[in-house]
Amino acid sequence: MMNKSKLTAMSLVIALFLVSCAKNKVSIDKTTQKVSQLMAKMTLEEKIGQLNLRGTSSRVKGALPEALKQAVRDGKIGAFLNVMNKSFVAELQKIAVEESPNGIPLLFSRDVIHGFKTIFPIPLGLAASWDVEVAESSSRVAAIEASSYGVRWTFAPMLDIARDSRWGRIAESPGEDPFLAAQLAKAYVNGFQGDRLSDPTSLIACAKHFIGYGAAIGGRDYNTATINKELLQNIYMPPFKAAIDAGAQTVMTAFNEINGIPASGDKKLLTGILRKQLGFDGFVVSDWNSITEMIPHGFAANEKHAAEIAINAGLDMEMTSASYEKHLKELINEGKITIKQLDFLVANILRVKFRMNLFENPFVPEEHTGNLYAPKHLELAKKAAIKSTVLLKNNNNMLPLNKTRTVAIIGPLANKPREQLGTWSFDGDKNHTVTPVTAFTKENRSFHFVEGLNYSRDRSSKNFKKAIAVAEKSDVVLFFGGEEAILSGEAHSRADISLPGAQEQLIKALAKTGKPIVLIIMAGRPISLSNIIHEVDAVIMAWHPGTMGGSALHDILYGDAEPGGRLPVTWVKTAGQLPLFYNHKNTGRPAKPSEFVHIDSIPIGAWQSSLGNTSHYLDAGYTPHFPFGYGLGYTKFAYSNLKMSSKKMTDKESLTVRVTVKNTGDRTGEDLVQLYVQDLVGSITRPVKELKGFQRVSLEPGAQTEVEFKISVEDLKYYNSDLTYGVEPGEFNIWVGPHSATGLKSSFRYE
Ligand code: NOJ
Repeated sequence: MMNKSKLTAMSLVIALFLVSCAKNKVSIDKTTQKVSQLMAKMTLEEKIGQLNLRGTSSRVKGALPEALKQAVRDGKIGAFLNVMNKSFVAELQKIAVEESPNGIPLLFSRDVIHGFKTIFPIPLGLAASWDVEVAESSSRVAAIEASSYGVRWTFAPMLDIARDSRWGRIAESPGEDPFLAAQLAKAYVNGFQGDRLSDPTSLIACAKHFIGYGAAIGGRDYNTATINKELLQNIYMPPFKAAIDAGAQTVMTAFNEINGIPASGDKKLLTGILRKQLGFDGFVVSDWNSITEMIPHGFAANEKHAAEIAINAGLDMEMTSASYEKHLKELINEGKITIKQLDFLVANILRVKFRMNLFENPFVPEEHTGNLYAPKHLELAKKAAIKSTVLLKNNNNMLPLNKTRTVAIIGPLANKPREQLGTWSFDGDKNHTVTPVTAFTKENRSFHFVEGLNYSRDRSSKNFKKAIAVAEKSDVVLFFGGEEAILSGEAHSRADISLPGAQEQLIKALAKTGKPIVLIIMAGRPISLSNIIHEVDAVIMAWHPGTMGGSALHDILYGDAEPGGRLPVTWVKTAGQLPLFYNHKNTGRPAKPSEFVHIDSIPIGAWQSSLGNTSHYLDAGYTPHFPFGYGLGYTKFAYSNLKMSSKKMTDKESLTVRVTVKNTGDRTGEDLVQLYVQDLVGSITRPVKELKGFQRVSLEPGAQTEVEFKISVEDLKYYNSDLTYGVEPGEFNIWVGPHSATGLKSSFRYE
């Protein structure tokens, strides 16, 4: 007989399944029936074909290769990636539905990550907006545009928690915090998939990379991740759970191994956690060759072995490598894989194709143009760029600029239409990009422009003189620096995350003119500014802001818009501090100002002693340059009057937290009010702070408002070392403030 807890767990799984079906507006019975009726007619070869995601180069010119068309005709391919020619898409689909044995439609996929034609800020930038509407509308626009090319499956959202800015793919990530990442995950999935999966503008989403890819040692891409089971559940899992709860139809396995097992071959992960714990009922796709990469990982002896491991783990579709295609039949004949296992994988894929109504509507409707670069899309891209931009420093209210002043626009990213689009912007046409220089020209601003450096890594000082000359005849210098797009993203990790090339030298040379300098950074990661920040008066982080970046920055610089972003990652002083994140553990010897000993304060010839006896670096200290959640606006806010509905909480009621926020400056502005919680004592040690809520307020000068948060039992739960998810009685601290390193503090007890 089943015990009560098993029964409850099972009803929960069934309930979740029903909810997900209801959300996707499908009838379980009908879809299941359709899948089994179809599968009854399919040959073994055809079934194996459905598991095959074939890559083509987006640049294929001329005609489609005959062999490829024949493979589709024979039912040997289930999905394609990177077929970016509309007539090829139509031709392949026509062959699939009209000539293949059972007319099963193909699924076309693409990395539509932060826009298709209209490019939005990179995902780390979108995360800085802390704005779910912005995340949702950006992915909706991306879906509308991309689906007009026949793409119906995007490899996004990327949901890898990233705590190390050296890692190139931090650019694609939602940042370091699981709570924020989970909110964004839901928004992205809703945006990509839209209201109905069967809508011709719906792209099925892919929550990737499952899991722990962002925990690569030293930020070196593809590297090993060691993550204990509690950390995996508490930090890395929440955004995936949110995406799956929102109905994400696919999940991509990560390249990396976790605790010795490559993600693409990990049954506990793909079957235990993904299917059973999270109730995922879509299909799992490998990353590019990640199944056969289990050979160099030292986990599979050869291709056939790799296929066997991946199938046993529960990996449904193979991207680009062909281990299933080549060896699955043999594995079945040898009894290493059963037909039942194969049928499970195939059914997962077909179910999604039915949900998308691809059988009825396999082609792009003629009238679906995608409204590429429609004014509305560009407007949303501009809004997203404004909301993503983080003001880090603004000495003496240097910004907004006085409109009558003449500016010198200098720097390697001031007029680089391709670079400001960032990583994963294959389809964005740079001719549509508004750079800062084009925006200033269009708005008739009085400015001089000299790049000074041709590109971000340029080490030559040969144009410094010209740059200094324009600085001298201007009132203020706007230096657009940072990283070219290619310096972040996949396989583009850096050990030194300061401004590359001779940018620091040029800024120092410009500072000698005595003109105030605004440093505007376009980059895929936080940049270490320790060598340079004292030379400049203001710093703006624009990330790679996308198609409308120049226009957004123009409006921010002149105060027609306010920089709306707050950091979704801790910004370090130097790469040597990495990994550094706000929700760390306290340690037995937490660092504090009174104990800190700087390297220069150690007496020469000092005898060995345990300096300060706390967890810090002698040189870089223990605090970041800018904390998680940080960002300035153009006005000031004061927080007061923190009130809690009770000092005690039980599982029956939630707590209400209220705080008064007042605009004490002289212009209307927005602030992002953040709520953090600390569980003081746990059966495993708990982070010093965890984000549990945020709200944006907009106030006129002198106006104030009361911001209210609810803390529910759910907010206090975590996975302990038995992997029990729950809340433990005890003391909790809370903070409400403008970022993770400050705030009004109170506490309560959970009983
Ligand atoms: C490899 C990347 O890791 C993944 O994110 C991407 O979706 C695939 N390549 C397909 O391009």
